[in-house]
Formats: sequence, structure tokens, C-alpha cells
Amino acid sequence: MHLLTSTQLSREELLLLFEQAKTLQESKTIPQTMTGKILGTIFLEPSTRTRLSFETAMLRLGGQIISIPNAESSSLNKGETLEDTGRMISSFADIIAIRTPEKGQVAKFSTHSSVPVINAGDGTGEHPTQHLLDFYTIWKNRGTLDGLTLGLMGDNKNSRVLRGMAKMATVFDIKLIFISPDELQPDEEVLSYLKKKGREYHQVTNIGEVIDQLDVLEINRVRHEYFEDKQRALEIGKQFILNTETVRKGKAELIVLDPLPRINTVQTDVDDLPQAKYFEAVENGVFVRMALMNQLMQR
Ligand code: NCD
Repeated sequence: MHLLTSTQLSREELLLLFEQAKTLQESKTIPQTMTGKILGTIFLEPSTRTRLSFETAMLRLGGQIISIPNAESSSLNKGETLEDTGRMISSFADIIAIRTPEKGQVAKFSTHSSVPVINAGDGTGEHPTQHLLDFYTIWKNRGTLDGLTLGLMGDNKNSRVLRGMAKMATVFDIKLIFISPDELQPDEEVLSYLKKKGREYHQVTNIGEVIDQLDVLEINRVRHEYFEDKQRALEIGKQFILNTETVRKGKAELIVLDPLPRINTVQTDVDDLPQAKYFEAVENGVFVRMALMNQLMQR
């Protein structure tokens, strides 16, 4: 089985995965379930956290790694197709985590892989393991994922983190508030998915209007790589910098998340507030990816 989208796991499957991640996180010695197994990481777009988190998870489970850490270092750069690359790497590795610059490319790649494939971010598509670690962090801190209001702030149009998180949220009783300028509000694909699932959502342009309503605020940078006018991306980004003053206007138990890197997102002085959970989420991500790889390899 592959993990390709943010919508393929049911509520029960998500909660089971979170329980398993928690057990791993609390165990003194990690069961070496991946001894003799190899994870292939293929990152055709820049990454710091996600690739290292996957690799750490595999190493801690007793497995090993092979890696294409960037597009330049593989024959894809010579024009080899993603399909041939998939066929070849799946004959070396037992499981693959891949990031691609275009939406849909991971799904395409997976059709040529004989081993489980995990989507580590496909262009403006989705980033399912980021959503998993964010929801796991909320679940661990709040004990539930129901009855919450989740604000998604920044580039709701291009951010795979915000797009996928909105969709994954529909399996829980979560009210969504999109906080973006009009031009970066979510597209019809996301909004029609929410309508189909009967989920409540609101759209605002300013965090100040809604900060006191939020239980969770996920913020992601304006994705300048998808802008022709980089200057414009920078200008919009500056409107969404989160400072301590705004966080303090919110609920005391507010959870602030950011997949990082923070480029005009959370100001560094927010790090010292109890609401800041983004570094905790990075730590949690290793255990979530361990639990996920265990599950995918068992099926
Ligand atoms: C995000 C990504 O690549 O989508 N980073 C991550 O995986 N932690 C967010 C981003 O690049 O802005």
C-alpha cells in the first residue's frame, strides 16, 4: 500500500496511527522492525526536515537508507523518466519516500513501483506526512481532534501543507477558517471537497478578526516558487507574520504550528510562548513516520 493523498486514511486509521506513534515515542527502546530493510528517499525539490525525518525514522527502526537528495544528482537530470526511476529504485529499496516539483507526479511514480511509496510533497498538491505529524501534535496536546476550530493562514492557494490539512481535517469535527488575501484563498478543488464532506468553513483576510476563535493556527509561508512576481510574493508574505501580540490575543491553549521554513511566518520571539508547538511537531514527526512505515511494510 502507498500513502499518496491526505484523504485516503479514515478517522479510525488516523487514530490508530497516532496511538502507534505515541507508543513508539514513549518506549525506552525502539523495536527494530526494519532490520535488513532499505528506505529510498528521492527529493526532487529542496527539503531539510522531511528527508532527514524520514531517514532518522528508518535508522532508528534499524533499517538503512539510499538517497537521491536533489534533482541534480540523478539521471532525471539527464532526462530519465520518473517511471523508469520508479521501476529501478523499487528494485533496490523496500519502501520509498518521494518529493516532486509537480502535483500528481508522486501518484504517477507509484504506479511503477513494486514497493510502498510515500508522498513527501508533490508540488502544490499535498504533503500527507506533514498533515499526520501536525494532527498528531494537536491530538497529543488536546487529547482529541473533535470540536476544534483550525485556522489556516498564508498561501492557501499554493501551499500543499494548508491544502492537504484542510482536506484531512474533514474526517474530524473541525471547523476551518482560511486566513489569506483574496488571491491566495483556496481553489475550487479544496472548497468543493469541503462542501461535499459537509464541513463548515469561513474565509477571512485578517488574523485579527478570528484569533480569539482558534484552537489551532497553522501558518505556511507564501510559496514564492509558484509566483512569477517574486516581489509580490514577498509583499503578501509580510502581511502574515505572526507576532507575540497576536498570539496573546488568542486562547491560552491555542496551538501554533508551522511546517517551517519560516519565511515571514512566525516571529522568533513567539518560540518562547507555550502556544508554539512547531518544534515539538518536528520531533513528533519522526515517530509518526516510524509508525507509518511500520504499517505500510506490514500490509
Ligand atoms: C513544507 C513543504 O515542503 O511543503 N516544508 C516541510 O515539509 N516541512 C513547507 C514549506 O516549504 O513551506
